[in-house]
Amino acid sequence: MSVREAHYDEDPIIRSDSGIGEDFASVAHRRLSRRDLMKAGLALALGAATLKPAGAKGAASAAGLSFVPISPSTGPQIATPPGYDWSTVARWGDAIRPGGAFTPGSEDSKAQENAFGYNADYVGYLPMPYGSEESRHGLLVVNNEYVNPELMFPSGKPGEFTEGQVRTMIAAVGLSVIEIKQDSDRDWGIVENSRYNRRLTADTPMEISGPARGSSWMKTKADPKGEIVLGTLGNCSAGKTPWGTVLSAEENIQDLFGRGKAVTDPALRASYDRYGIPDEDSYYGWEHIDPRFRADENPNEPMRFGWVVEVDPYDPEWTPVKRTSLGRFRHEAATTFVTRDQKVVMYSGDDAQFEYVYKFVCDTPYNAADRKANRGILDEGTLFVGKFNEDGTGEWMPLVQGQGPLTPANGFRTQADVVVNVRIAADLLGATKMDRPEDMEVNPVNKKLYIACTNNTRRGTGTRPGKDSMNPRNENRHGHVIEVTEAFDDHASHHFAWEHFLVCGDPEDPETYFAGYPKDRVAAISCPDNLAFDNLGNLWIATDGMSSTMKVHDGLFAVAVSGPERGLLKQFMACVPGAEVCGPEMTPDNKTLFLAIQHPGEGSTFGAPSTSWPGEQGPPRPSVIAIRKRDGGIIGS
Ligand code: FEO
Ligand code: CA
Ligand code: CA
Repeated sequence: MSVREAHYDEDPIIRSDSGIGEDFASVAHRRLSRRDLMKAGLALALGAATLKPAGAKGAASAAGLSFVPISPSTGPQIATPPGYDWSTVARWGDAIRPGGAFTPGSEDSKAQENAFGYNADYVGYLPMPYGSEESRHGLLVVNNEYVNPELMFPSGKPGEFTEGQVRTMIAAVGLSVIEIKQDSDRDWGIVENSRYNRRLTADTPMEISGPARGSSWMKTKADPKGEIVLGTLGNCSAGKTPWGTVLSAEENIQDLFGRGKAVTDPALRASYDRYGIPDEDSYYGWEHIDPRFRADENPNEPMRFGWVVEVDPYDPEWTPVKRTSLGRFRHEAATTFVTRDQKVVMYSGDDAQFEYVYKFVCDTPYNAADRKANRGILDEGTLFVGKFNEDGTGEWMPLVQGQGPLTPANGFRTQADVVVNVRIAADLLGATKMDRPEDMEVNPVNKKLYIACTNNTRRGTGTRPGKDSMNPRNENRHGHVIEVTEAFDDHASHHFAWEHFLVCGDPEDPETYFAGYPKDRVAAISCPDNLAFDNLGNLWIATDGMSSTMKVHDGLFAVAVSGPERGLLKQFMACVPGAEVCGPEMTPDNKTLFLAIQHPGEGSTFGAPSTSWPGEQGPPRPSVIAIRKRDGGIIGS
C-alpha cells in the first residue's frame, strides 16, 4: 500500500447534530438492476482469477481504440502496446530555470526552486500560442503533489529533518510550468530559459479571493488582512479553464500541519476535527522547522489551504489566486465545462472516505472574445453539493448562507463560514457520502459527467455506513465509475440522472460490471483515479492502487462509452514499481499522450530503492512521460 494511501483510512469527525449525509452504497447498489446484474455475470463461478488482457481473443474494437491491449504488468519498465514508444519529458530535479542544477539527494533548496518538482500528478497541455490547436509546441502545467522524503534524501525523518531538507521539500511541491517542444518527430523537450518556465512552491505568494478573503478565518500574524497566503500544498489533479488558466486542486493539506491540540476556539476546533488536522505532529514534521505549519502558533494557517488555485501559465507575472467561492475541502481536481448559454460550471470531488461531490455555477457568462475578462468570474456564483437518490435521479443542493440549515444558529453567519467549512455545511444538507470521489470530467462528445470513486475500504465496517441488502459491496477495494446526465444536458441544472458505468475489479468477480459488456472480453481494473477523454469521446482512466488490490502495477485503460463496444475496457499502459499513473492528457491532435509517473519506488528508500526509474541507478525520479505511436498516428489507434 502506498505511503500516502494510508492517509485515507480515517474517520472524519462529524458533529453529532449534523450526521445526516446519506450513504452512497445503499443508493448505488440498488441502482444496478437485476438485468444489469445478470449482464454483469452473476452466474459466473468464482475461481482463481488470472488477470487477462482484454481483446486478446480478437474482440471487436471501438472507434479509435484498435490498439492491441497489454497484459497487466509487474515488470521493471513502462509497458505500452505494440507500435508505441515513450520518452521522458521532465524528471524530478531537471533544471527548468537558471540555477536549477539540482542533484537528487541534496539539500539544495535554491536549486530545487528552479528545478522540476517532485511527485507529478496533474498534467495540462496548453498550446502555444494561446487559442491555437498547436500540437507540437505548448506549455505543460504539472502539479507536484507531495514528497517522499525517504526517497529524496539518504537520511532523516519527521522531527529530525534538517532545515535544508525541509526547505528542499517546501521547494519541491506546488506546480511546475514548462514550455515544451517536439524537437523531432518523436521526442519532446523543455525549452531552455523560456520566460514561461517557473515553479510555484509552498512559499509562493498567492492572492485570496471570494467570500473568505479578508474574513476572520484567513487572518494570521503574517497576513493580518487575510488577503495573501504563502504557497500551495497537496496539489493533486486540476483542470484547464476555457480561457487558458489552470485550476489546481489542493487535496491532502492535513498532512502538512501539526500541533492542532492547542486549538480550543469552538468554531476552529469543529473545523480542525472535520478536516482532520492532527493534534500532535504532522506527517512530514515541517512544523519543527517552520512555525507557519504549527497550528498552536498559527491556528488559522490551515484554513488558508484546501482551496482551488487559479494559475495563468501564459502570464507568469499574474499572481495566482485561491478562489474561495469553490469551497474548502480535499479537492481532487477542478474541471470546468461551458454550457450552451455560456455559463461556466466547475466540478470537484472531495477525495476522502464518505465525502461528497460538488459543483459551482458562475453567475457571469464566459467571454470567449477576451480571455482576461474572465479573470474573476469564478468568484461569483453558487456552490452545490450532490445528492444521489435511489431511483437514479439526483439533485445539486445549494450551499448558500441563509438557505436551509445554513443559518447563524448553526454557525453560518456569512458565506465565508460556509466555504471555509463546506464539509460541515454539506453534512447539514444531507449530501450523499461517496467512496472517495476522485476525478470528475465531462465527456466533450456525449456531454455526460463521469465520476471516479476510487475505493472505500471502510464501507460497511464497524458502525460506518454499509452495504445495501441487494447489492453487496462493502469494504469497496476496487472502486467504480458513475455516469451522470444533467437534466436537459444543461450542466447548470439542479437535477440529474445517474447510473453506474463501471463497477471495478476482476471481471470474474460477479460483483463487477462493465456497462453490460461481456466480461470475458474486458480488462481487470481497480482504483480508478484520473479521467480524460479523447476527441472521439472515449474514456481514459488512470489508476492508483492496483499494486495493493491486484498485485500488478497501476496503469492506463481506455473504454468506449457509446456504441456496441460501450464497456469494452482495454489496458493501454502499465507503470513501474511503487508508482501510480496520473495526468492523462493529450495534445489537441491526440497524437501525443502525456502521463505523470508518480512516486516510483514508494515503499522503499533512497539507499535501497526498489527501482531507479527512469534511470539505471540512484533514487527513482517521478517524471512526466510522452507516449507516441511510432507511425505518428492517433493514440489508441
Ligand atoms: Fe491525490 Fe485523490 O489523489
Ligand atoms: Ca488522484
Ligand atoms: Ca482528469
